[in-house]
Amino acid sequence: MRHVEITGKRLRLREVTVDDVDALHAVYGDPTATEHLPFDPRTREEVEGIVAEALRAAEVEPRRLYVLAVTDVEDSRTIGVARLHIEADHPHSAEIGMGLRPDHWGRGIGTDLVRLILVFGFRHLRLHRIWGARSPANTAAQLTMLVAGMVEEGRIRHHVRARGAWRDSVVHSALEDEWEGYRDV
Ligand SMILES: CC(C)(COP(=O)(O)OP(=O)(O)OC[C@H]1O[C@@H](n2cnc3c(N)ncnc32)[C@H](O)[C@@H]1OP(=O)(O)O)[C@@H](O)C(=O)NCCC(=O)NCCS
Repeated sequence: MRHVEITGKRLRLREVTVDDVDALHAVYGDPTATEHLPFDPRTREEVEGIVAEALRAAEVEPRRLYVLAVTDVEDSRTIGVARLHIEADHPHSAEIGMGLRPDHWGRGIGTDLVRLILVFGFRHLRLHRIWGARSPANTAAQLTMLVAGMVEEGRIRHHVRARGAWRDSVVHSALEDEWEGYRDV
């Protein structure tokens, strides 16, 4: 799918552009926002690279990677980023990730965001399974995914190496046939 634009009540998902580098850096480069993510805060140059890679991946056929800007429908400002990666060997299944600028946390927007990603994945991409892995300590991500309907399905032991130590991941998933479409996200 090309030219993604999915609009909810408060948030819109759209294709990322080079103009989003600073906004994405406010997430990927922020020590608080990356505390539970398996990488150190990114430099601006690294975020430029992420955006460049996203633009290249958007041209690949079949498309596997969607890096989307999360914007506020009121003022169109970019307040976060969403990522959906379709598995090469299992094209019915995709892994998702998301991050919001810390000054927008705690207003229920994270839950709206996960719901909107599920709408995109199930309704627009016709996926069957959508999953996300989080750090066991990431309570905000846990609640966000649970409230949006992604059940906890298990723990992957020592899944990632983060900050010099092995770290488990907890996997959440939603299945198309269990998922109730959200008309009012
Ligand atoms: C995960 C994230 C998107 C959540 O965004 P958010 O807008 O703060 O989430 P919400 O406001 O929708 O909160 C969802 C629930 O989590 C709770 N919550 C939010 N932050 C919390 C925290 N730090 N500790 C405990 N509970 C928290 C909220 O109270 C809410 O629960 P409720 O519906 O019962 O009231 C945001 O914290 C973020 O961008 N984190 C950094 C990146 C990240 O960790 N991404 C996830 C990788 S798997």
